[in-house]
Amino acid sequence: MKFALVALASLLNLALAQVQSPDGTFNVTNPIKGGTFVQGKALPVVYDLLVNPITLQMNVYLVYSGSGNGAQVTIAQNADVTVDASSLQNKNNQSYWEHSINFAIPTTIPPGTYNVVFEDVTSHTNTTVPITINAGAMSVISTSMMMTSTVASSSAATSSASAAASSTSAPAAQSASNQLGFTWIPTAACLVMAAALAL
Ligand SMILES: *[C@@H]1O[C@H](CO)[C@@H](O)[C@H](O)[C@H]1NC(C)=O
Ligand SMILES: *[C@@H]1O[C@H](CO)[C@@H](O)[C@H](O)[C@H]1NC(C)=O
Ligand SMILES: *[C@@H]1O[C@H](CO)[C@@H](O)[C@H](O)[C@H]1NC(C)=O
Repeated sequence: MKFALVALASLLNLALAQVQSPDGTFNVTNPIKGGTFVQGKALPVVYDLLVNPITLQMNVYLVYSGSGNGAQVTIAQNADVTVDASSLQNKNNQSYWEHSINFAIPTTIPPGTYNVVFEDVTSHTNTTVPITINAGAMSVISTSMMMTSTVASSSAATSSASAAASSTSAPAAQSASNQLGFTWIPTAACLVMAAALAL
């Protein structure tokens, strides 16, 4: 029941909150503005091409928008912009061509505010959707691992603090599909380190 309401609410949001590109050639259906996602889990990216034929070369990025030096991660280079029968959809007599990318948010980027940026390479315009990425359950561990990595080492200390604060509010049950990429070695490492931290 609760699940159905959540699903319904997100459907309503999808219907209401599409972000359109400046030249009107595509809509971003997902993520919605202000959406909240979790490190290591899926970031659904869905865009609707509105014109056919279309001349669009598009890259999609996840760009840190908080203070300080931020990470930029490529979601798609030369994203799929084919307009054909397999992507064709119809709503209120309007045809559009929908593509989606199921992007796994790296655990190596700090939690915080981000923009999902759809870069139109041809016209040099960006369509930007602001989102928030929260720490995953393993973030205390991954944040400490991150200190030795090249990504955003300067913000590791602050994200460690926020990771600890927000990890308790992370959804208790993640869907099975979001658990892809979960492997035994990191799991064992997390358990050992969690045990070590608890002592
Ligand atoms: C694209 O987005 C605009 C602005 O939100 C909306 O008016 C239009 O109906 C959307 N088009 C489709 C095909 O969903
Ligand atoms: C779609 O087009 C048909 C035929 O032109 C028309 O009868 C119908 O009312 C239209 N539906 C919508 C939702 O605009
Ligand atoms: C669009 O975003 C990309 C990725 O962050 C950036 O490299 C590019 O300079 C931006 N283009 C414009 C016109 O702002």
